[in-house]
Amino acid sequence: MNIRDSIAFVTGANRGLGLFFARELLARGATKVYAGARNIDGMDVGQPGIVPVQVDVTKPDSVAAAAARCADVRLLVNNAGIARVMESTLDPDWIATSREIMETNFYGMVLTTQAFAPVLAANGGGAIVNVLSDTAWFSRPMLAAYSASKSAAWSFTNATRIDLRAQGIHVLGMHVGFLDTDMTKGYELRKTRPQDAVSAVLDGLESGKDEILVDANTQLIKQSLSSVDNAYYLNLPALA
Ligand SMILES: NC(=O)c1ccc[n+]([C@@H]2O[C@H](COP(=O)([O-])OP(=O)(O)OC[C@H]3O[C@@H](n4cnc5c(N)ncnc54)[C@H](OP(=O)(O)O)[C@@H]3O)[C@@H](O)[C@H]2O)c1
Repeated sequence: MNIRDSIAFVTGANRGLGLFFARELLARGATKVYAGARNIDGMDVGQPGIVPVQVDVTKPDSVAAAAARCADVRLLVNNAGIARVMESTLDPDWIATSREIMETNFYGMVLTTQAFAPVLAANGGGAIVNVLSDTAWFSRPMLAAYSASKSAAWSFTNATRIDLRAQGIHVLGMHVGFLDTDMTKGYELRKTRPQDAVSAVLDGLESGKDEILVDANTQLIKQSLSSVDNAYYLNLPALA
């Protein structure tokens, strides 16, 4: 889809990757970007054209109100997400914590997709970008619950891509390793710059790609799914 002259809605756009999405969409000629955030009190993204809108993706009423208010949207970026680190897959809080993560990363994406797809369709079609992760395919034990949420979100992404095509809605999945945002603050990891990830995804969106694998490790993991030395069998130091 053409970003120029489009109107977009980005969830979790008050900081991190979402704010980079909002700014780059404007830089590429979007006329308006709704910046969805749980708390918009005093929110100042410092740029005309970026309009704060209250949305908590875990709350159906909040998502429905945002979709009703932003009836001119043609591009939805499902970016809002949370991560929780646990010592092991045997952690006694694993189920409770994974439910919390699923509410945001999986059901949140389902809710916003269900609320905004009719808006996109009513505006002649458009696109949905789902922010996923290399963890959809490579589950580090300390991030296993997060990984499960991204695997589920990947599956939903693939179903909606087929389902919504007839309404002129293009669905793009973004997979990336660690990003340099608050989510990974304090961890010594190889991190991709969020602005580079956003550029790769928006280039892919404009050229009609279905899936963008932002970094080399993510590409390696995806390739390895059909190999004997599958990444998810191993604790590869390069990927841990
Ligand atoms: N950082 C990484 O290494 C990495 C790698 C791969 C994929 N991702 C994905 O990238 C996306 C953005 O993450 P990030 O790195 O930018 O993390 P971040 O800096 O922690 O930002 C997360 C954003 O999501 C928002 N959010 C969380 N729960 C929400 C909810 N219920 N409703 C609405 N907004 C909510 C947060 O809002 P508040 O300010 O209110 O908390 C914040 O704006 C996530 O989907 C994440 O899983 C991140």
